Amino acid sequence: MRSPDLVSIHALPREDVLEILDLAARLKKDPGAHRGVLEGRTLAMIFEKPSLRTRVSFEAGMTQLGGHAIYLGPADISMGKRESVADIARTLEGMADGIVARTFSHQAIVDLARCASIPVINGLSDREHPCQALADFLTIREHLGRTEGVRVAYVGDGNNVAHSLMDAAVKLGAHLRLATPADYGPDPGVVDRARAGAERTGATIEVGRDPAAAVAGADVVYTDTWASMGQEAEHDRRVAFFRPYQVNAAVMARAARHAIFMHCLPAHRGEEVTEEVIDGPASAVFRQAANRLHVQKALLVLLLGRPSGAPRSG
Ligand code: CP
Ligand code: NVA
Repeated sequence: MRSPDLVSIHALPREDVLEILDLAARLKKDPGAHRGVLEGRTLAMIFEKPSLRTRVSFEAGMTQLGGHAIYLGPADISMGKRESVADIARTLEGMADGIVARTFSHQAIVDLARCASIPVINGLSDREHPCQALADFLTIREHLGRTEGVRVAYVGDGNNVAHSLMDAAVKLGAHLRLATPADYGPDPGVVDRARAGAERTGATIEVGRDPAAAVAGADVVYTDTWASMGQEAEHDRRVAFFRPYQVNAAVMARAARHAIFMHCLPAHRGEEVTEEVIDGPASAVFRQAANRLHVQKALLVLLLGRPSGAPRSG
């Protein structure tokens, strides 16, 4: 892997994305592979927000690879309040071999990566969720045998998950159609940079308002919560805007017959998705969740498994 960190899929060379997915697939087939490769290594995990999948997959991944993970929750270090991001980065690089950070501000993760000489992995920011999108495309590739030309429909909020799906679709040559309410579309800057990169890989990125049009003939139908972490106070107001964007049986019926339903979880049955869809035969959500472990292990091997003192880039 050429990139020293995983802050954004956008910043990864396409070869890095393929290397992560290929190693994740190998680790899934042979979970004992690379056992012990991180013996004596420590991962510091900074979480400003709650987590089930991200925390457990990184912690279990470190255990399986012979290393150790330390959880630093919101009450532990108060990034930017008790101590500056730069001071945290420079302290951790003297004690740990890598950092996972889940933050509100995306810039905080950018700054951590800039200040720390050890690898930094984005475990979700308000803008991006790269580890999720890598696991998502591993799941898509397992289902369809390829990523190039795959038609993915994303229905709902133009949020961090949507942004990283866009970045990953571009690297992997997929066709992504988003349908969001007018005031809840993706960041135009992320859309522009995605479209600029899409030409090189044959990917396409379409952003619209109509869920039925987005889903028509899709291989994958994806949604996420209508109110992300940090937006809880807006929940009731958002629900009113998002009601027409619920993924239900009628929406799934417009997709291809072999289509799968995906959701990064946690899910809210009766809001962004109905029970019949998320718990139905087309749902891939728990395979998708399990794939977080294999992708996290691949990232840990590639980023933290370098010999000590090896250059972080080049
Ligand atoms: N999908 C995901 O990142 O889940 P958690 O918030 O539980 O980590
Ligand atoms: N968009 C959601 C994803 C949770 C994994 C959030 O940021 O809360």
